Amino acid sequence: MAISFVGRVAIVTGAGTGLGRSHALGLAQRGAKVVVNDLGVSRDGTGSSSEAADAVVAEIKAMGGDAMAHGCDVSDEAGVKDMVAKAMDAWGRVDIAVNNAGILRDKTFAKMEMSDFRKVVDVHLIGSANVAHACWPIMREQKYGRIVFTASGSGLYGNFGQSNYGAAKAAMMGLMNVLHMEGARDNIRVNTLAPTAATRMTEELLPAEAAALLAPETITPGLLYLVSEDAPSRFIMGAGAGSFAQTRVYETQGITLMEGDNTPETIAARFAEMNDPEGQEDLQDAFSQTKKYALNAAKARGLKLDW
Ligand code: NAI
Repeated sequence: MAISFVGRVAIVTGAGTGLGRSHALGLAQRGAKVVVNDLGVSRDGTGSSSEAADAVVAEIKAMGGDAMAHGCDVSDEAGVKDMVAKAMDAWGRVDIAVNNAGILRDKTFAKMEMSDFRKVVDVHLIGSANVAHACWPIMREQKYGRIVFTASGSGLYGNFGQSNYGAAKAAMMGLMNVLHMEGARDNIRVNTLAPTAATRMTEELLPAEAAALLAPETITPGLLYLVSEDAPSRFIMGAGAGSFAQTRVYETQGITLMEGDNTPETIAARFAEMNDPEGQEDLQDAFSQTKKYALNAAKARGLKLDW
């Protein structure tokens, strides 16, 4: 069935260029009214301009869609609240929040100033939380909400020189996991996109032939699915150049040690066994882990534990 966003209101942050622009256009093409947020900064988050956001709004209007620009800095809570209030004033609801705005301040950890660490965390993590938080009461009241956080391979797998960015991007998974649980009863679904695209963020890293394949537009269909009515929830989608994949966190069955044997030496001796992927699980919440360990310990002692 065709996926439509007619009647839906979407906020896309950092939508003046790159991936955000592509997502905003994709949503508008399928009928969403779109708040095109962009502070119009350079790649490292300096400067500001409304030009890029205004141009995307003009593009959407030229194709017969409805859009408004908002130039708030996502890390500024008051600005984000104003943006959400303007969307409510104009259109009466907010169904979709695409947290995409982002900057880079790459340096090895040895050379990193903590101010650059904090700035990157502020934009990606606090910015995403600000937007989700401002939309949250509206989505709960509507009993409908779709939120996407933008992570990165840097956060999920690591990338040299990006301790600030990698930490902020890995935090998206943590935020998603909890909001997924807290939003479920009000039909709020929360997912994470981990894109890899040729944009100004990556321009000097990619060979030209690869860049041609990695256009932002190849990723947007995945984003559109993640914010659609039948979207999954708590899904981490890797996307780029037409490839789409799921990233999951697994925990192995592991080993259970008893008193006396519970020593670092035993752990060293049984390290390979601890890492055996046979029977590994994608635990659905933190307490499942606590329960598993308590049950393992009880079983090892021949105790009955009703849990
Ligand atoms: P981009 O640099 O082309 O676009 C980012 C946009 O965010 C810019 O228009 C910028 O003005 C805006 N922005 C930055 N800080 C802002 C703030 N505080 N408030 C509002 N707007 C702000 O970057 P690109 O590549 O399109 O990245 C989009 C998202 O995807 C980012 O979160 C990025 O970290 C993530 N990502 C990108 C990858 C890639 O390969 N391009 C890889 C993995 C993740």
